Amino acid sequence: MAQAAGGRLAGAVSHAGGLGFIGAGYYSRETLTTEINAARAVVGERDGRLPIGIGFLAWRLDELPRSDAEALVHTALDARPTALWFSYGAPGSIERWCAYAKQAAQAPQPSLFVTASTLEAFQQLQQHDCIDAIVVQGLEAGGHGLGSGQPRDELLLDVVRTTDAAHRPKLLSAGGIADGRDIAAQLTLGADAVVLGTRFLLTPEAAYADAQKQLLLKAQGHDTVRSMAFDDARGTTQWPAGIDGRGLRSATVDEYDAAAQHLSWAEQQAQQGRVPGIEARQERYRAALARGETERMITWAGTGVGAMHDIVPAATLVQRLAHEARQALADAHARLDAPIS
Ligand SMILES: Cc1cc2nc3c(=O)[nH]c(=O)nc-3n(C[C@H](O)[C@H](O)[C@H](O)COP(=O)(O)O)c2cc1C
Repeated sequence: MAQAAGGRLAGAVSHAGGLGFIGAGYYSRETLTTEINAARAVVGERDGRLPIGIGFLAWRLDELPRSDAEALVHTALDARPTALWFSYGAPGSIERWCAYAKQAAQAPQPSLFVTASTLEAFQQLQQHDCIDAIVVQGLEAGGHGLGSGQPRDELLLDVVRTTDAAHRPKLLSAGGIADGRDIAAQLTLGADAVVLGTRFLLTPEAAYADAQKQLLLKAQGHDTVRSMAFDDARGTTQWPAGIDGRGLRSATVDEYDAAAQHLSWAEQQAQQGRVPGIEARQERYRAALARGETERMITWAGTGVGAMHDIVPAATLVQRLAHEARQALADAHARLDAPIS
């Protein structure tokens, strides 16, 4: 999770038995090195590896001079992480970065993760031998995603029904997952594992501000909205076509909606960064941020946020989620044979 998951969170998640990712999307090499060291301080090394993942935004790598982008990827590879994750690029970019990382990595090679938001994207990505895991991310997910993607369960089941488990990369499900019961449900639908984002924002280790965590604790699923408003306000409108983000509705979203109401969704996406009044909206956003006002804050959140009620250390959360998932599976198993009356 870019700007939310640094080495402290990633290390704590992996130390507790999960696989924590550093969201390196906007990092310089120096910051990435600092965060890698922070993760290593928490989790140490296992079998010559740093047991965390490192996530890159392919469009950001593509924006950099090629040598700088490669140097960033090499900084990650030099740490010998368990996994790298490339997401959100122009057509072909993710596959190119995966192929680059595969040939540049020395043993032990990291597993390569990518994201798919539609069945078609999954089918295309799984043709590439270098990809080890595909995260199918539903519309419910917090943060960025394909605005015209599929709901999580529909997408997962489409993949499960149309691909051969023995010949596909690991299948991970993401979007709106709040607790262990949700995890159990995804596993029974056919996922090999799950990805949780928003839930881990509610940990002391997440880099979110306290005010953002408090907003998340108060929010319900219907308080989240997919919109271009967030990137419009903060000036990050270079995302690939079709990508918007899910976050908490705020004055920032309301103002954007008012300015864009005459535009269709497709027109909003085509006009990204050019909806009239953008300079004024960005100015108001920056001023509110400087004053610490929460009403214009950008707080990414998935639809599962309404079922998240506490801030707990990442280790406690990983253990709780695993326990809840096991319990939910056992309870469901017991109910299978129980009489109805
Ligand atoms: C604050 C935040 C930042 C994120 N940053 C990234 C990112 O840099 N790259 C990426 O592939 N996904 C990113 N995501 C998406 C997550 O990897 C994950 O797929 C998503 O959070 C799952 O949905 P959930 O938040 O409903 O659990 C981000 C999500 C959040 C909430």
